[in-house]
Amino acid sequence: MRTFYLTTPLYYVNAKPHLGHTYTTVVADCLSRFRRMLGDDVCLLTGTDEHGQNIERAAAALEITPKQLADRNAAEYQKLWARLGIEYDQFIRTTESRHYAGAAEVFKRAFDSGAIYKGEYSGWYCISCNLFAPESNTPPNCEVCGRPTERVTEESYFFRLSDFQQALLDHYEKNPKFIMPVSRRNEVVNFVSGGLKDLSISRTSVKWGIPVPGDKNHVIYVWFDALVGYLTGIGFGAENSSEQFHKYWPAQIQLVGKDIIRFHTVYWPAFLMAAGLELPRQVFAHGWWLKDEVKMSKSRGNVIDPHVLLTHFGSDAVRYFLLREVPFGLDGTFSYEAFIQRVNGDLANDYGNLVSRTLTLISKNFGNLMPYPSAIEGRTSLDKEVEATALATVETYQAHMGNLAFSNALESVWELLARANRYLNESAPWALTDNSKERPRLATILYTAAEVIRIATVLLTPVLPQSCRRVWEQLGLKIPLKLQRINEIKWGGLPVGSSLGELSPIFPRLDKKIVIDKILQETGDEATVKDPELERPRTTSHPKSAKIQPVAAPASEPEAGRNGPQEPKITIDDFAKVELRVAQVISAERVPGADKLLKLTVDVGSEVRQILAGIAKAYAPESIVGRKIVIVANLQPRKMRGLESNGMLLAASVGDEGRPVLATFLEDVPNGARLK
Ligand code: MSP
Repeated sequence: MRTFYLTTPLYYVNAKPHLGHTYTTVVADCLSRFRRMLGDDVCLLTGTDEHGQNIERAAAALEITPKQLADRNAAEYQKLWARLGIEYDQFIRTTESRHYAGAAEVFKRAFDSGAIYKGEYSGWYCISCNLFAPESNTPPNCEVCGRPTERVTEESYFFRLSDFQQALLDHYEKNPKFIMPVSRRNEVVNFVSGGLKDLSISRTSVKWGIPVPGDKNHVIYVWFDALVGYLTGIGFGAENSSEQFHKYWPAQIQLVGKDIIRFHTVYWPAFLMAAGLELPRQVFAHGWWLKDEVKMSKSRGNVIDPHVLLTHFGSDAVRYFLLREVPFGLDGTFSYEAFIQRVNGDLANDYGNLVSRTLTLISKNFGNLMPYPSAIEGRTSLDKEVEATALATVETYQAHMGNLAFSNALESVWELLARANRYLNESAPWALTDNSKERPRLATILYTAAEVIRIATVLLTPVLPQSCRRVWEQLGLKIPLKLQRINEIKWGGLPVGSSLGELSPIFPRLDKKIVIDKILQETGDEATVKDPELERPRTTSHPKSAKIQPVAAPASEPEAGRNGPQEPKITIDDFAKVELRVAQVISAERVPGADKLLKLTVDVGSEVRQILAGIAKAYAPESIVGRKIVIVANLQPRKMRGLESNGMLLAASVGDEGRPVLATFLEDVPNGARLK
């Protein structure tokens, strides 16, 4: 039996998963189900990347230990995968003991081969991406995420990446499919051709990590540590690697987002070469899900919570949308409108309707039993053409799936469904009566339509496992759907004379407006709200007072009576809902065309965010860089002048003009500290 090992990235545990993370895992699950239905012995690995400064800082901001944060968010990932029906074989957490031994072993092997040496490093480092930036006099922004970098100087172990330049280029050349899609391959080849610098692969200032073997002052660089998870998750260990490791390694496909391609196609293969291990056969980099035209990410505050989608639409709809909407490899924009369009148009209308009208007619005319088609010679050219289309679709679908062209594969099945719907319209079985003359024709038409449904359902199982199981049951089929072999599909597999299951609609149609309004209400998402330029609330009713208030409060906020006796008091629980945190201004600039606005980048300890504030008349941008301020950290993101504001800063509003004076601290306080 052919083995097929495939992996998702190991996700950072600094936050809960969002739709972007969901994407890679859904794709991986669909691909592994497809390979299983070809008869392969599949191993799907996913997991979490739990060490490093990023996690250390996020935990400190929450006043919990890194392990507590890792436990909490690893569980969030597992909970989400269960809701999405992800059937993984291995979930590796890089804090597990089975991982420690293997990570140290790969380090040791690379060290023993001469690929690692000790030196000193000084450079600009991005703590979010765990990546050093090229040298420069001023702090550059990270090449990957664009956030500001920090200066780091320390003793370090180095990996002789420069020595691997030629070996990597040779590998890319000899294995043209090692990096996919081709556009990404070209990027990587250009990058490596430009020369490689040795890589710092240990840290002394970080404690949350795996110790370097034989040198406890250092922990292994988090990317080195995490990448090795692909090996330890299937049993690579210190002494004897397990049978499972030998069976599955090297991976057939490693799925990653385009932001982490360099780690997987330059560093990772070099680490493996140094340790004397085989390289994965392919690394495939997909695009990003965007929201409001930028990458969906927690720090930008524009994430879609997969649980909201699961609650409203169910797991199959989420899986279908992610796989169908965007060609794999390209970026895609998420919108609820497009999502519901897919559910109503593709699932409810095209697939759901075909199933329901075909099976209802069978039930009505043939007492719930699958009808016998008339003898072969009785079949018309129309019937034969539908059969030929179905069999051609099986081939096209497999070719697309083999190239990870999921959207095209689904499109081909939808062409088949459309053909079958047209076939029903053209042959109008509802107009045929139950008399003995018309009955054979009626049986053939309905059998042909039902057979298309059976074939399409087998093909759709990797994408829509739950719904397909229900259609299968309604078709009255008893053989487990999962045991169907996609590469062995033949026409005529429906057992005639068998009873249908209980019929019920599979995909209910949704009312777009009602559902979207409900979701927006629940999530407080402002996707459809257009904000005019932000105004500070007027304070004319209290000219002498100086009241601390969020500077970016909406203009419409009611002002009168704020301090009046009739204003109800809030409880301590109400206050606790407001998350006030210390943030440090990293950069500030004016917003063209908005004379009151400053665009700030602030460090909130666990993350860097953008905030827009109406303080431009009181503060020059350069005067507030480096200042520690107070922000409302759990406010829904808002858009102003096309820019996103992810939080509000607090300032006193002074005098008739309501001049803002920033709230600040006399003592030094860490970024992210909560005000209570
Ligand atoms: N921990 C590293 C990976 C180590 S693998 C040994 C990491 N983690 S991550 O949680 O930041 O990202 C994991 C994956 O999620 C990446 O492949 C990334 O591309 C993907 N996505 C995160 N946001 C995304 C979108 N908005 N859209 C699509 N995928 C994105 O990197």
